[in-house]
Amino acid sequence: MSNRNNIQYMPVVRKPQFNWEEISSHWCDNNFFATHFVNSMHVVFPEGEKFFIRSVKAFADRIKDKELQERVKLFIGQETQHMMQHKNFWEVLQKQSPALDMFHKLYTNMAYGRDEAKWSIDRKKLALSTTVALEHYTAIMAEVALEKESKLLEGIPEEMTRMLQWHAAEEIEHKSVAFDVLKEVDDSYLLRIKGMILASLDLTFYVGMGQIIFMSQDKTIKLEELPSHLFRFIKKTTPIFKGILANVADYFRPDFHPNDNDNLFMAEQIFQKIMTEKAVA
Ligand SMILES: [Fe+2]
Ligand SMILES: [Fe+2]
Repeated sequence: MSNRNNIQYMPVVRKPQFNWEEISSHWCDNNFFATHFVNSMHVVFPEGEKFFIRSVKAFADRIKDKELQERVKLFIGQETQHMMQHKNFWEVLQKQSPALDMFHKLYTNMAYGRDEAKWSIDRKKLALSTTVALEHYTAIMAEVALEKESKLLEGIPEEMTRMLQWHAAEEIEHKSVAFDVLKEVDDSYLLRIKGMILASLDLTFYVGMGQIIFMSQDKTIKLEELPSHLFRFIKKTTPIFKGILANVADYFRPDFHPNDNDNLFMAEQIFQKIMTEKAVA
């Protein structure tokens, strides 16, 4: 039975602290292919999160429902915290690789260089629809990462695990906010699907581009080790790609709603853990 009562999915803005004093250059499972894949996401995500906030804010005055207005505020609060925490990690990454600044500049120019202020209402709707689809992707990745049997976060430093688990849990908590805004602004199925196509192409292209740039600048990589690192990466990420395929297919259902998959309990387990482990402001 679908669960569309959003009261239990009311986001909470938390401000956890993470210590990024040092991290090894191939911190993700001692695997350079995996590390640079996630490093690329650490650059792609914060700019994406700023874009999500702008996309939703563009229609804030059209939201009549008081509860949705509140959820939008809290969604913006959570995404702002995510963006800040990813950027804090950049300080460590920048010391290790000049690729970060190079990729960041290229990525922001290519993805966000156009003059958003002059966008038509239809273009703004497409941006919101792309945000909704990307929020679906982050919610899928979050679920796969937080599943009990998941091995996705194994071989990752403790502080990075805490950070990724917190981010994942909040992605589940606010997964329906942008979707409900789009529903209120424009309920068109075609618009939602166009956003998914655009989001899928953008996500694949920019994360892939970042990974290639990071790897090309990493002088410690031994090319002869690439097949074994790639094989371990594929083996570990197969569940996430299977999860993505199944869940993206679900998104194409005309009556799809993110809360049809009621998985808030997964997020709550993480919040309890984070709150008891270390002080959260
Ligand atoms: Fe986020
Ligand atoms: Fe999000």
